[in-house]
Amino acid sequence: MAPVIIYITGFHQHAGKTVAALGIISSLKKIMDPSRIGFFKPVGQQMVSLASGHRIDKDAQIVDTFSGIPNIDIEYTSPVRLTSGFTRKYLDSPNPEEVTRKLRMEISKTLEIMATKDIIIAEGTGHPGVGSIVGLSNAKVSNLMKAEIIFLSAGGIGKALDQLEVNISYFLYKKSRVRGIIFNKLLPDKIPIVKRYITEDLLNRKLAAVGGPLRILGFLPLIEDISNPSMHLISRNWENGETLGDPDTEAWKTPCKEIKVLTQPSENLRRRNFLNPGDLIIISCASQTRSRSILKYNKKLKEHSRGLGGIILAGGNYVTLDSQIKKDIAAAALPALYVPEHMATCEQKLLKIYESTKLQVYDYNKIEEIE
Ligand SMILES: Nc1ncnc2c1ncn2[C@@H]1O[C@H](COP(=O)(O)OP(=O)(O)OP(=O)(O)O)[C@@H](O)[C@H]1O
Ligand SMILES: [Mg+2]
Repeated sequence: MAPVIIYITGFHQHAGKTVAALGIISSLKKIMDPSRIGFFKPVGQQMVSLASGHRIDKDAQIVDTFSGIPNIDIEYTSPVRLTSGFTRKYLDSPNPEEVTRKLRMEISKTLEIMATKDIIIAEGTGHPGVGSIVGLSNAKVSNLMKAEIIFLSAGGIGKALDQLEVNISYFLYKKSRVRGIIFNKLLPDKIPIVKRYITEDLLNRKLAAVGGPLRILGFLPLIEDISNPSMHLISRNWENGETLGDPDTEAWKTPCKEIKVLTQPSENLRRRNFLNPGDLIIISCASQTRSRSILKYNKKLKEHSRGLGGIILAGGNYVTLDSQIKKDIAAAALPALYVPEHMATCEQKLLKIYESTKLQVYDYNKIEEIE
């Protein structure tokens, strides 16, 4: 039997398509063998290079890394790459229709490779019309694949309904099969009121969906700091780092807040708002006084709120961390990583991890929260 194809698209870039894809895959894995699930991004715009030399969309890499789908055919996950300059080249080409035909064939080739799967999750690109200039808008691509669409909408009531009117009408005009809507990034305390006004009944009265009625698949809260990494994720991305404490505990899996590089004397810790709950601190492992002050400060914070997010003890290559401090940090359950690099390198490494951490969501089971 041909696989069921779910096409995830949304009202604009960053609507939450990749997060939704991971959430859906995570749910599917509870009821089916993960090897029966396929994922690809038919039209991609932001590529990353793999060690093998292949260029694939950033989201294909994220899903490959986090979804738990084994043996993704990674080189087929980005059949069409609409990178900078492509549109002009396309318009200048003597036979643009032929270019479109070839691009469509690339998408079909990926579908053939994944033909033995039971379900394929395909992630769309940008807002509904992106790709239309080369004949590959989200509507056209979903039609080519005979996919059922899940549409990611913004929150609010009037704003969401007005946007849906434009976006869904576009898909319906193209005869695309929009079947499910997810409202994402809703302010948590507004969810009950949004639910009260935006109902399946209302949507189906306003929009005559193709292929069956529209379903509302979820009202998802805006989750604070979802884009920041947890110490668990940081430790996984840090080769040669030694974890102090148990990385499977909640404190390790909670996203950190700001990075604070601590070079000042330890008295400064007492300065109001210098260090806040959840902050991630970099200090030199040579400074025992600072480490002890941080432990004390962390204990004080925990009396009223969350403690510090974590601590990176830098410079293991040059100085050995005092064994008693090591024990005290682990006993305080303050997520800590003892690393060889000096502080400046640690800061750079952390900034890189922060930048590339869209989806630590999956790492700390926020997907379950989202579900
Ligand atoms: N419910 C949510 N609460 C808070 N942040 C969220 C939520 N859903 C998604 N995000 C964040 O929004 C950003 C965009 O999400 P995501 O990458 O899933 O969007 P996308 O639609 O796939 O983006 P792109 O258009 O680049 O493919 C990410 O940083 C993600 O962590
Ligand atoms: Mg994405």
